[in-house]
Amino acid sequence: MQWVKDFYSRTGSWWGPAEARISERDHQRLSLLHAHLGTEPAQVLELGAGYGSTAAVTAQAGHAVTAIEISDRADFAEELTIDAPGGSLTFIKDDFYSVDLPRQFDVVCYWDGFGVGSDADQRRLLRRIATQWLRPGGTALIDVFNPFVWAQWDGDEEHRTPNPDLGYEHELFERVTFDPVTCTATDTWWDAARPDEKISQRLRCYTPADLALLLAGTQLELATITAGDLTFEATRRPEDSGLLRRHASYLAILRLGPPVKD
Ligand SMILES: C[S@@+](CC[C@H](N)C(=O)[O-])C[C@H]1O[C@@H](n2cnc3c(N)ncnc32)[C@H](O)[C@@H]1O
Repeated sequence: MQWVKDFYSRTGSWWGPAEARISERDHQRLSLLHAHLGTEPAQVLELGAGYGSTAAVTAQAGHAVTAIEISDRADFAEELTIDAPGGSLTFIKDDFYSVDLPRQFDVVCYWDGFGVGSDADQRRLLRRIATQWLRPGGTALIDVFNPFVWAQWDGDEEHRTPNPDLGYEHELFERVTFDPVTCTATDTWWDAARPDEKISQRLRCYTPADLALLLAGTQLELATITAGDLTFEATRRPEDSGLLRRHASYLAILRLGPPVKD
């Protein structure tokens, strides 16, 4: 999937100077991790870690974090330092489909990235999480793109003007389309100075029901969902979860069950 490396490296070169820093979003993710797993120091694997800001906040809270990122966004993580007792950050620039990690983790996180690839890719990743990386009884926290909201954005275009004071140097355009047959959003960007060089990310979106089907046979079970400020068990959903209109993604809390018999 060469487009993955190219897309996130190029967009990282546009946005990294502005966005490769710790923000409120990283602290919110740490709060979610603590809400679902408690605050005891844990061995954490973060997939698709981008610039590394969430990994850094997690390590700074005393967790031992291993972070994997394939694109050049990983280069921004070289600046990160951790000085918390017990906390550590090992940042690896590699492909999570092939990287060899010789140990297990209490929790695997994938923030804002699951769905980059085909169903077969996603299942391959879920199997790696279940059979190689999570310790028995471990938990995976995975942001999932929500098709109900992405579908509403079909045809939307945006024009982003530069804001050099904040580190945004490029004048950019974005167009979103949504294919209801494959349930995939295509998010296309181009620099106003280079309109012929358009780049796209393709994001497979999953309803919770689709995700549950995808998980079949992986040993992972969809236990809980967090959508915005609301957390609910996948089997007992509230009247208004916000999934129809408000949240472009939701956090799936996946628990590792007993081994699946073939
Ligand atoms: C939408 S970005 C989110 C980055 C970060 N988690 C955040 O929330 O800011 C998805 C990230 O996953 C990374 N990624 C996608 N496929 C990957 C793979 N096979 N191995 C490692 N990283 C991958 C991309 O390069 C990209 O940085």
